[in-house]
Amino acid sequence: MDYTQIREEIKERLDIVQYISNYVNLTKKGNNFSGICPFHAENTPSFTVSPQKNMFHCFGCGVGGDIFTFTMKMDGINYFDAINKLAKQAGIHVDISETNKTKNSQYTEILNIQRTAMDFFINNLKNTSNALEYLKKRGLDDNTIERFGVGYAVEHWDMLYKHIRTKGYTQSAISGCGLFAAKQHGFYDTFRSRITFPIFNTHSEPIAFGGRLTGEGSPKYLNSPETAVFKKKNVLYGLNMAKDTIFKANYIIIVEGYMDTLMCHQYGITNAVAPLGTALTDSHVQIIKRYTKNLVVIFDGDRAGINAAKRALAIIYAHGLEAKVLSLPTGDDPDSFLRKNGLNKFLELLNQSLDFIDFMLQIAGKTTENIEAIYTIINNISDKILKSKLTTTLAERAGISESIIRENVKKPTKYGKIATMPKSWTGPSEEEYLLMLSLNYPECFKQIKINLSLDEFDNPLVKKSFNKLYENSLPSFDALSDYLSETELACLTAHINNPLINPAIDDDELAKTVSDCINKIKRKRVELELRKKIQSTTDEKILCGYVEELMTKKRQMLKG
Ligand code: UTP
Ligand code: MN
Repeated sequence: MDYTQIREEIKERLDIVQYISNYVNLTKKGNNFSGICPFHAENTPSFTVSPQKNMFHCFGCGVGGDIFTFTMKMDGINYFDAINKLAKQAGIHVDISETNKTKNSQYTEILNIQRTAMDFFINNLKNTSNALEYLKKRGLDDNTIERFGVGYAVEHWDMLYKHIRTKGYTQSAISGCGLFAAKQHGFYDTFRSRITFPIFNTHSEPIAFGGRLTGEGSPKYLNSPETAVFKKKNVLYGLNMAKDTIFKANYIIIVEGYMDTLMCHQYGITNAVAPLGTALTDSHVQIIKRYTKNLVVIFDGDRAGINAAKRALAIIYAHGLEAKVLSLPTGDDPDSFLRKNGLNKFLELLNQSLDFIDFMLQIAGKTTENIEAIYTIINNISDKILKSKLTTTLAERAGISESIIRENVKKPTKYGKIATMPKSWTGPSEEEYLLMLSLNYPECFKQIKINLSLDEFDNPLVKKSFNKLYENSLPSFDALSDYLSETELACLTAHINNPLINPAIDDDELAKTVSDCINKIKRKRVELELRKKIQSTTDEKILCGYVEELMTKKRQMLKG
């Protein structure tokens, strides 16, 4: 089905400025409206909404698009759900599932069963004093229990089954929902004698359960098996509750378990989520990327914890995201730490969490193996600027010469396979990066304007943008967004979406980054010119001179 017409109709009926101002405080600036970007942390507004173009964009973090893009990002929902939601608001009837009716009805039925089961478990909990006592002993307050839908599955073979049977679900949905297992004489409940933790999707619909024994026994935790609505690797526990804070704080905290997540939220750390008893996977990182590019991973300070952190870092950096590591005292998890030491002590540790290089050098240890592991991770990063930044940092902190590191991170290492970045993805070029920096940090604009003339830019869109910006002494979003077409704006925001952008970049670092970019652009240009000359020269002697010059330039480039 083609939704173009519906999309257009929705766009016509809904006012993008009005819609976005439900989420962002917008003030009128010229033809546009601007405000603090809801998708990354910033102090000066770089988020712009253009009513004429029916679009928004942020020069700070690079997000941009139409009302559908905004809704998808803001609510963390997919395209179809965004259409559905906005259609409702616009008063347009649309049934996205129409084309897929049979498949969808089973899917919907399974979802409904989860909801029925959740309510059933919640109700059980209210009547089971020892389960309530257990939760109290674990320090969960009523509010947390309620918000997370915590419940209890009683010690009985088929209580839930009997209850579900009365609700008129089809047998195929009942068999496929993951809450029952087949036995000779029928079905029995998967969750028995367990505290139940509903696992929600990002729209806060329960899609599965985790269950913990209140006493001794094995397994301590049990998860629903995979079903049509539940794919374990695509779910982060607590994300539905955490996504708003993740957007606003522009980072996510990864903990290990159910109780850790609940306790973090109870203590006000509402950007914490946990994988479901697995290590962090590619899919998790891909999901996280929709919300933020900065992670803090929390691990136990023991050997196993350190190794788990190393694996997580490799995956995170391979996707172009950045992470810090918070190591807890051995034997503690966030749950026990918070309860023993309180929020302030936790925040202290959070403040001291180590960036990737420091963690590897200080905690994992400065062994050959670890240095190799660092090389591997850096080697896998396709964002050139991030790669270069880490190379420099490693040189400084490990006392290894930068040229040796560059030599090492150029060649594929034995772990080279962890590269999971799509090939098509590359970070922003230096030119794009400068454009983003100048819009985000106006103080560096002058440095760029003085040092780079328009014809030194290669990328036509960047050149066109600077052409406009150079007209004034300070960069202006408004001027730029009026000047560029809708498509150009979309291209620009898509390309300058950079993981490196860090609201806390300090003045010295900024000036240095800018001058590095300027130098690289200039050198690239010289190189390009030399290559052209080489192409068109037939005189052997002159040719040799050019080649020699090119080699020298390349060597200089490697050094700097
Ligand atoms: P932990 O064993 O660290 O437990 O498992 P925990 O989260 O601290 O739980 P409490 O404090 O003892 O209640 C971490 C996570 O690994 C998964 C669960 O997701 C758990 O939260 N797990 C653990 C299982 O899936 N099965 C198990 O038997 C144990
Ligand atoms: Mn625990």
